[in-house]
Amino acid sequence: MKINGTPYRSVWINEKDGWSVHIFDQTRLPFSLDILQLTSAQDVAHAIRTMQVRGAPLIGAVAAYGLALALRHESSDTAMEEQAVMLAATRPTAINLRWAIDRMLAHLRPLPADKRVAAAYAEAGRICDEDAAQNEAIGRHGLSLIRDIAKTKPAGSQINLLTHCNAGWIATVDWGTALAPIYMAHDEGLNVHVWVDETRPRNQGAALTAWELGSHGVPHTVIADNAGGHLMQHGQVDMVIVGTDRVTRTGDVANKIGTYLKALAAQDNAVPFWVALPSTTIDWTVANGVTEIPIEERSGSEITHISGRDERGTLSKVQITPDGSKAANPAFDVTPARLVTGLITERGCCAATEDGLKSLFPEQ
Ligand code: MRU
Repeated sequence: MKINGTPYRSVWINEKDGWSVHIFDQTRLPFSLDILQLTSAQDVAHAIRTMQVRGAPLIGAVAAYGLALALRHESSDTAMEEQAVMLAATRPTAINLRWAIDRMLAHLRPLPADKRVAAAYAEAGRICDEDAAQNEAIGRHGLSLIRDIAKTKPAGSQINLLTHCNAGWIATVDWGTALAPIYMAHDEGLNVHVWVDETRPRNQGAALTAWELGSHGVPHTVIADNAGGHLMQHGQVDMVIVGTDRVTRTGDVANKIGTYLKALAAQDNAVPFWVALPSTTIDWTVANGVTEIPIEERSGSEITHISGRDERGTLSKVQITPDGSKAANPAFDVTPARLVTGLITERGCCAATEDGLKSLFPEQ
């Protein structure tokens, strides 16, 4: 995607700069567009843990490069396995992270140690290219859903979409998942408008989705997380579209905390609730999302404090709860498949069921 006319991906390598890994520091957006240079697996792990880099597909891609950086330092079997475990443990819910590390190890284990560094960069590059292509395909399949909604409305009238968290290009290598169809719909002239859930506690919607959509010229309005049900009751949402961190083989969907409540409200108001994902987000080993998907518990300080830009233009953090109040911070929830209208994958759309997923991915 482009920033001020210049095309970027969310992760890239600088061969002239020691083959280091470059990302945008997502903790600084939307106020400052800072590029971070990562030179070791430890740098990568820190960036993932602190959410300088985030979004399920992107953390997988960056972790793959993290393994390449680790191998530059030491490419023995023992070192490679240890660093893979360290990188895979940085965040627990998004399956793309484990998928990417497993794919890297499967590729690298048979190779002699002295061939591993080049092979690791090449494989991580392929993971990135495939992610970008898959998300572009998701965009095309999701676009036809938006076109179908447009056909049910008076010509030219506004199509209101609602999204939660950030599943845009900054959460993937390129395009995004939930936002890819929206970019394509906007680009072909459909009158789309996006309700952007602020997505407390870290505000990925208010900070990142709003920034992405604004940079691309897509009309959008940021809303409090609790406003979606009200808007749906008043006919102001035509479709909910979200990304996901892990989908079970039965179609349960783990995504940013609060997604489940949006799905309940959508069901109650007959609003279609679609989930966009590359197949790297499907965990074929899991059947019951509520009981089997590990939910990341993050620091209570993300609840008790909020970050932003103050009146002097300085980025700062302020406390919003009384001293001594305890805070709990589950970062994801699981939306049961029965609340999901359908899944948008790179191979097309399907029902959120085992049969639906197998019809698109028969090799599984
Ligand atoms: O905690 P985050 O910001 O990494 O959570 C991100 C989400 O929940 C996204 O919706 C999900 O990763 C899909 S990204 C295409």
